[in-house]
Amino acid sequence: MSRIIMGIETSCDETGVGLARLFEDGADDAAEPRVELLADEVASSVELHARYGGVVPEVASRAHLEAMAPTTRRALATAGLSLSDVDAIAVTAGPGLAGSLLVGVAAAKAYAAALDVPLYGVNHLAGHVAVDTLEHGPLPKPCLALLVSGGHTQLLRVDDVATKITELGSTVDDAAGEAYDKVARIVGLPYPGGPPIDKAAKEGDPEAIAFPRGMTGPRDAPFDFSFSGLKTAVARWIEAAERQSEPIPVPDVCASFQEAVADVLTMKAVAAAREYGIGTMVISGGVAANSRLSALARERCEAAGIELRVPRPRLCTDNGAMIAALGAHVVAADLPTSPLDFSATPALPV
Ligand code: KG4
Ligand code: ZN
Repeated sequence: MSRIIMGIETSCDETGVGLARLFEDGADDAAEPRVELLADEVASSVELHARYGGVVPEVASRAHLEAMAPTTRRALATAGLSLSDVDAIAVTAGPGLAGSLLVGVAAAKAYAAALDVPLYGVNHLAGHVAVDTLEHGPLPKPCLALLVSGGHTQLLRVDDVATKITELGSTVDDAAGEAYDKVARIVGLPYPGGPPIDKAAKEGDPEAIAFPRGMTGPRDAPFDFSFSGLKTAVARWIEAAERQSEPIPVPDVCASFQEAVADVLTMKAVAAAREYGIGTMVISGGVAANSRLSALARERCEAAGIELRVPRPRLCTDNGAMIAALGAHVVAADLPTSPLDFSATPALPV
């Protein structure tokens, strides 16, 4: 016995439709659900935002509206299914951009009403954790999740991905990906800034410039982050070099900035795992694709005896598969459905 779950994601600039199969063996109700990925189609409007250096909400909403139906069709075709094969629909209810969320929620309601199947409004952040089950199987309980993207930077204790996630800390200002995007703009690299900084850093010296590690003082909250001081430090350093008419060593600036971000993220994540006695860490979100972050996390987790799980980059960035995976866990947990008049919640907490 199995059920097909469709996941719809439109919280930012990616229109994602994923399909997952939830196996219902009926053998052991207490066992973690087994979920298989069937399709993961994403249409991104990132190029439309590139010249503005960040996501323009109005442009993103329009792009979702155009991409929604074709992306759904492509996902069904990839899985060799038709819409009538779908047994439940999960959709990102928040957090995210209001106008973007509404497009996905409206589409999900239309599909659920037409098919007469259950509808579940789910949390985007929990989706970033649930997606790992598509790659590495059931999540150990509890596990620690480090979510690092353009919109969020959080440390989460995950007791159950569908029903119990506790925030241990988050950024007090910029998200990690946002810092990458802002620093890229400062040093003259294109948006989104993560991939070009990651590439330039490979040619640079991570110890060339001692950039500050935010929120690491004895009186700072141990699991919160701050990246805006780091971004300002990079800007000040570049200004000083320009005043002296010195050439800017972009690879060294990128490598030193990247080292500061990876150092703080991994240090605090490992400290949280230790504090709560958690043996598994999941890193997800667009910044999880960063080569230095994953290398340093691997090194520090190994030294601390923590199992590290990082989904492949395609699953780390926003997509519909993560919402389908979470939807499967929500269905398996028998949680209540969302009424057809539920609304998106842009500031939805985890
Ligand atoms: O999860 P995501 O696709 O979208 C949300 O923000 O929700 O993450 C996008 C962010 C961008 O800020 C981008 O610069 C960053 O992830 N990113 C990276 C890398 N690839 C993408 N940051 C650092 N290194 C990378 N290789
Ligand atoms: Zn995201």
